[in-house]
Amino acid sequence: MTPSFADKPKPVASLKGRSFLSTEDLSHGEWQGLLSLAKAAKTQGPASLGQPMLHKTVALVFFNPSLRTRVSMTVAISQLGGQSIPLEIGAGSWDLEHLTGVVMDGAKSEHIKEAVPVLSQYVDAIAVRCFPKQKDFAVDQQDEILQAFRQYATVPVINLESAFWHPCQALADMLTIEECRGGFKKRKVVLTWANHPKTLPHAVPNSFALAACQMGCDFWLVAPEGYHLDESVVEKCRRYVKEQGGEPKGELVLTHDREAAYEGADIIYAKSWASREHYGRPEGENRQGLRDWIVTPEWMAKTNKAQFMHCLPVRRGVVVADAVLDSERSIVIPQAANRLFMQKALLASIFS
Ligand code: CP
Repeated sequence: MTPSFADKPKPVASLKGRSFLSTEDLSHGEWQGLLSLAKAAKTQGPASLGQPMLHKTVALVFFNPSLRTRVSMTVAISQLGGQSIPLEIGAGSWDLEHLTGVVMDGAKSEHIKEAVPVLSQYVDAIAVRCFPKQKDFAVDQQDEILQAFRQYATVPVINLESAFWHPCQALADMLTIEECRGGFKKRKVVLTWANHPKTLPHAVPNSFALAACQMGCDFWLVAPEGYHLDESVVEKCRRYVKEQGGEPKGELVLTHDREAAYEGADIIYAKSWASREHYGRPEGENRQGLRDWIVTPEWMAKTNKAQFMHCLPVRRGVVVADAVLDSERSIVIPQAANRLFMQKALLASIFS
């Protein structure tokens, strides 16, 4: 059926011309607006949000690799009538320095102070992926590269995963939860730490925790000793739980008890991240004792027929058992698909 004029999805006007660095940038109303717009984009077809990006160009700046983010952003921009220019920093584009006062006699050829204002002359928005160095937590927490882009850009900046946040992933995660569980309130959403051969950044779990608390879920974070998220993130989550409007209020539970966490869960979201205790150092020995932090059918059997989520890429047999990932409980593919629809909603609003 052709949608009527009354059904025409509306962009979130308050996001027009704004940067998007963290879901903290979104009010509850803006969250709801983006979810509605994304659902319309999904059900009414690729052309449903019109061409708000006609003659608009976005630079997609990658300091690090990507599959989902790169492709979903490129397609979203294209479907909205715009075009994108991918830039691989240090590979096809100059390696960029971001620290101030550095004598640039090393490998880095250009400073962000010039590169970002120059890019701003050519394009209408800059989207950037910049992972942490994982040497010093206090440094990574500052998100220096992302902040430098924001400081020196004269066009909106969109975070495609920075040292501390991955807000576009969290947008898609919330749409996926709403679709699968019919809402957020009184849904037990569990983020479980998982084993991994590498020490991974905190960006995905930070953004997921924040978004789940913004939306009013009963949010449980289960992790081994030494692996809870940074207190600054937990404090923001606490504030969202406290300030939520409407009843019932969500809750925030931090635990090491997997039995309690899985019991009655509606969503199991697995992710690995580096230990705060060992940050910047190899965790080899420490991880030996944590190999059983893998999502198995036995763990899933304790839940309320929970769906399994992961941002991808995921290590089979390490983070999650094949029997879970290949089961009908796994929603990692529709979760990844939702990156496209939520980013279309975001871009259509920024360029409305
Ligand atoms: N989830 C996610 O951001 O995937 P990519 O790293 O492949 O972009």
